[in-house]
Amino acid sequence: MQNAPKHLTAWAPESDTAWETHITATLRHYSVPPATPSPDRFRSLGLVFFNPSLRTRTSMEVAAARLGAHTSTIVPGSGVWGMEWRDNQVMDQDAAEHIQEAIGVLSRYYDAIGVRLFASGTDYAEDRDDARMKRILEAATVPIINLESAFYHPCQALADAATLHTHFGGKVKGRKFVLSWAWHPKALPMAVPNSALLMATRLGMDVTVARPEGFDLDPDLMKTARSYAARHGRQVKECDDLHAATAGADVIYAKSWGGRLRYADPDAELVLRNQYQSWRISTTHLGKASFMHCLPVRRGVVVDDDVLDSPQAIHLLQAEFRLYAQMAILERVWNLAK
Ligand code: CP
Repeated sequence: MQNAPKHLTAWAPESDTAWETHITATLRHYSVPPATPSPDRFRSLGLVFFNPSLRTRTSMEVAAARLGAHTSTIVPGSGVWGMEWRDNQVMDQDAAEHIQEAIGVLSRYYDAIGVRLFASGTDYAEDRDDARMKRILEAATVPIINLESAFYHPCQALADAATLHTHFGGKVKGRKFVLSWAWHPKALPMAVPNSALLMATRLGMDVTVARPEGFDLDPDLMKTARSYAARHGRQVKECDDLHAATAGADVIYAKSWGGRLRYADPDAELVLRNQYQSWRISTTHLGKASFMHCLPVRRGVVVDDDVLDSPQAIHLLQAEFRLYAQMAILERVWNLAK
């Protein structure tokens, strides 16, 4: 843990040992009741949400409290100043301060800063590179925790891995995991499907990505996922037939995401996406599978009510694990783990 990178931006750059250590720590928080906080010194956590959140925001606030830390939740543009991102600007418009000063100031108050910052949805190269999160890292002098960026959601990935370990009694490797695209009225970001794919392949699951033509994930990310799968003697399959893909699944992880066409031609992406409104998980797909979703989920759009309300749905356990995963992440960032 001493040699872990300062920031937590994604799990991909971290060793298998670090990844497995954090799954173990998450499971420990699940099984051991919270102790009375006894930090060796006062700690504070700033949580900057450029985008909305229910789970990430509240689970991080509670996780910090359980570890004896103070949190402030900051929503730029709502009670705090609007912020400018671009460098070398004459700031004579709405933004009252630059991200350089804002993050620099928060670095002087907080021992770590969590940042939620979704994809722009307009510049694929920038989103692919997580460029705005990198700008935050440049401005920060304390550890930054990625609370979902353009490309990754490491908090969700850790919680999902620990959920799978618990649900399957530690016997996760080799189980069939289907990451399924689902229709949604909006072109949603790719951070969750990217992270779910890397998580499942790294766990040695037998992974299929079910998606219509035009909704394939980033080629470099697929390459990383295939390299993880290869370590376990597996391949990542892709399938554009939802019924065929989900046949025999142990886990169906549903998620909507926008096609990469949205960056070049959003109108064409919408027309393409709307052809696939039947891509909704129903009991006809479920079979014996457990159903996962990161939430929030639109009932009747992404998944039928009778799937979500069935005992095979483990989305609330997933959400519960967000809390334990946040505790493990804070311990890592503050080097609190024994
Ligand atoms: N899954 C997830 O990150 O939920 P929130 O957007 O509510 O934080």
